[in-house]
Amino acid sequence: MNVCVVGAGYVGLVTGAVFSDLGNDVVCVDKVVARIESLRAGIMPIYEPGLEEMIARNVADGRLSFTTDLEDGVRRSEIVFISVGTPAKPNGETDLSAVEEVALGIARAMDSYKVIVNKSTVPVGTGELVRDIIMKNQSRPVSFDVVSNPEFLREGSAIEDTLRPDRIVIGAPTQQVAMTLLELYAPLERPMIITDVPSAEMIKYASNSFLAMKISFINAIANICEVAGADIGQVIKGMGLDRRIGPTFLQAGLGFGGACLPKDTDSLLQTSAALGYDFKLLKAVSEINRERAAYFVGKLRKVLAPLDDKIIAVLGLAFKPNTDDMREAKSVEVIRLLHEAGVTVKAYDPVAGENAKRLLPDSVRFCASSYEAAEGADALAVVTEWNEFKLLNMERLRSRMRRPLVFDCRNIYEPERMRRLGFEYHSVGRKPASP
Ligand code: UDX
Repeated sequence: MNVCVVGAGYVGLVTGAVFSDLGNDVVCVDKVVARIESLRAGIMPIYEPGLEEMIARNVADGRLSFTTDLEDGVRRSEIVFISVGTPAKPNGETDLSAVEEVALGIARAMDSYKVIVNKSTVPVGTGELVRDIIMKNQSRPVSFDVVSNPEFLREGSAIEDTLRPDRIVIGAPTQQVAMTLLELYAPLERPMIITDVPSAEMIKYASNSFLAMKISFINAIANICEVAGADIGQVIKGMGLDRRIGPTFLQAGLGFGGACLPKDTDSLLQTSAALGYDFKLLKAVSEINRERAAYFVGKLRKVLAPLDDKIIAVLGLAFKPNTDDMREAKSVEVIRLLHEAGVTVKAYDPVAGENAKRLLPDSVRFCASSYEAAEGADALAVVTEWNEFKLLNMERLRSRMRRPLVFDCRNIYEPERMRRLGFEYHSVGRKPASP
């Protein structure tokens, strides 16, 4: 099939790469000239394992190309995916201006029947909005359909998630339109569900908000465990074995960050309010998440006070491992609070350092390794659970520190092992350990 993907961001690039890898002819359109030029030169605008190789392979085979020419992209395709950013406005509402702009461009370019697929995360009702924009702005009257096909990929495992999704959701106005998408996705051999358009839009928000709820729930339980002397790791195991609950997305820590979960919970809250429903449960999910960084810094303060003459090594800056994405990263909040308390922060991340420099105070000292960050530190805080932190030579690390004190915000180490290694060790929802 001939496919056009508008928006060469995370979702668009991965979607385009995977569809071309499945044998389709794909053109990725973006209005940012520099982005298209660098993609043509084989330089990836994002860090995502496996993406560069997949793109290079399909460009070489002539199945994948990049352009800034939306009109040309639309005209030569049967299916046009909209996968542009839908950031949050300051009040939490979703900013749909990029979606609207693309819909307008598609309307003006269309010269034959097209299936227009919304892959951007958009509030329920946006499919109707896109239909409306296209109807009103077509340069000539040609028929079209608007489909909602939400994306569930996670950063860091985006290719794998796209190739092997748990389910593919197709929200289409008729069975016949749904068939076009079914055909496109058929080679993946994954479960597909066909719904109406608003239900598909709702599935996306309900799923992300539910995941956010699991995380806030377990973080609240972790807080209680700390006071009650229970161990969150054991609690999660015991809960997760109940198949109705499941063990995933119950990792206690600093809360959820990234480009999706915080934005999508806020957006669903806005939509609910606009539709006249006060979604109290979701408000609490968001509030618990917002308190996490301050709660952690409070714990650190109790052990280390006063903070103003201390040096703290922060390991991990990206919002989660295997990405250089700093959007809504908890590290930013933690470091800002430490900085306000007068702490000298030394920071290290395997890939997000450059992106982090743009967001963090100038006083942060960026290091080239965990060991360099630990040099002379009064405490070390693990903020993002990169694999390489699990494999550190802990004796070497300890010998560099002024005080062997570790705050593990992601529970990557075993308390008993840390005690034996001579660390004073604090983690999430578990008893502290000391030599
Ligand atoms: C999320 C959804 O998982 C994905 O389906 C959707 O398409 C986009 O949003 P992503 O933002 O890439 O994906 O990251 P995810 O792995 O979901 O993690 C989000 C945040 O939650 C991270 O900050 C992570 O550290 C945190 N998290 C996740 C926890 O604190 N505990 C967990 O158990 C899982």
